[in-house]
Amino acid sequence: MSTTQIQSIQSIDASSFHGDKAKIYSRDANGLLGLAGEDTDAAYPHFLPVWDPNEHYEPLTEIEFSDPGLRADPALPNLFSKLNTDLRVKSLTPKFGTEVSGVQLSELTSEGKDELALFVAQHGVVVFREQDLRDKPIDWLLEYSSHFGRNHIHPTSGAPRGHPEIHLVYRSKTEDAAENTFFKDHVSSVAWHSDVTYEKQPPGTTFLAILDGPESGGDTIFADTEEAFNRLSETFRQRLLGLEVLHSGVAQADASRNAGGVVRREPVENFHPLIREHPVTKKKALYVNQQFSRYIKGLKREESDAILGFLYDLLAKSADIQVRVSWESGTVVVWDNRRSVHSALVDWSGAGSSRHAFRLTPQAERPYEDATVSCRDISRD
Ligand SMILES: [Fe+2]
Repeated sequence: MSTTQIQSIQSIDASSFHGDKAKIYSRDANGLLGLAGEDTDAAYPHFLPVWDPNEHYEPLTEIEFSDPGLRADPALPNLFSKLNTDLRVKSLTPKFGTEVSGVQLSELTSEGKDELALFVAQHGVVVFREQDLRDKPIDWLLEYSSHFGRNHIHPTSGAPRGHPEIHLVYRSKTEDAAENTFFKDHVSSVAWHSDVTYEKQPPGTTFLAILDGPESGGDTIFADTEEAFNRLSETFRQRLLGLEVLHSGVAQADASRNAGGVVRREPVENFHPLIREHPVTKKKALYVNQQFSRYIKGLKREESDAILGFLYDLLAKSADIQVRVSWESGTVVVWDNRRSVHSALVDWSGAGSSRHAFRLTPQAERPYEDATVSCRDISRD
C-alpha cells in the first residue's frame, strides 16, 4: 500500500465512535483507501480496514424478519447442554448482563443459535470468553450471522477487503495517544448509542469479537434501556407512549464525506417509536440515543430537547442499570441493540497498543411500539 497521505479524518463512524478519530488514509494501487501507518504486524491482517471509494449501494429494501429467538426452546438445551461440564454462567448484574464460559459459539447448531438469540434478548448483553470466531473464514462468519438477520452493510465504516458486511473497529498502535488527538478537544470519550438506528430495520442480536487490544483499557459499557423504561413513573410512561423519534444518518455520512472517506449508501432518516417492544420478550424499552436521535415528532424544539435530554441522562448517568465489559483475547460480546445502548471507552494511550475488533450486524424487525396496536403510521415514510 502506498503511504501517500490524502486526508486527516475527524470522524469516520459516529455509529461506533470507539475512539477512532483523526484517521490518516492512504490509497493503494487499486484505489482502495486504507490507513496510513497501519500495523504491519497485525495479528489478523485480513481484518484490517479498507474503504473503496467506488463502492456504492442502492437503498436497503425492507425484508421479512422473524426473530430466531421466537423458535427457541426456553429451556436452552442446545446452548447450555446438561452434558457440558465446562459451562459457567455468571450474572454481571441482577437484571442486565451475563458472562458465559465453556460454550463455543462457532459450534452452535441452528437450534443453539435460536436459543442464543433468546438468551441475549433476555439478558441484554452476554460476554463469551475464549471464542474462536476470529479464526473462521470471513465468508463463514457472514453465513453464521445471517442466521440472525440480513447482514448490514455500514455506509461509512472500514471493512475487510471485499467484505463490506463486516464492520470494523480499529485504532492503530501507530496512532498518537488519545490524549494528543481526541482529548485535545473533549473531556470524555463516552458516546452512548445503539448501532445504526437510522435504518428502517436496525440491528437486533449483534456480535463484536476482539482481535487485538490494549492490556488494560478499551472496555465497552452497556446500559439497559428496558430497565430505564421501567424506572419511569407510570404517568411519564403514558406521556411517552405513542411518540416517534427521528433517527438520522446524515451527519455520519457528511462527516465521512467531508473528511475524504466513503459513503457507500446515501444516508437515510427514519421515525421509530420512542418506546419499542421486543418481539421475543414482549418487554418495552426506551429507543433513543444521542448519536442518531434528532427530535420527537410533533413537539416543539425545546420540548423535544428537554425530554430527549432527560432520557439520555437517565441512560448515561444511571450506573445501576449499566455493565462494563473488559475484553480479553478471544472475547466475543453478543448484545441486543433493541434493548441496550453502549459506548467504547478510549482510556489508554494509543501508541503501542492497537484496538481491533469486528462486528457482525444482522438487521432485525422495523421497530414497533406495541404488537397489538399498529404504529405503522404511513406519514412516517
Ligand atoms: Fe456501536
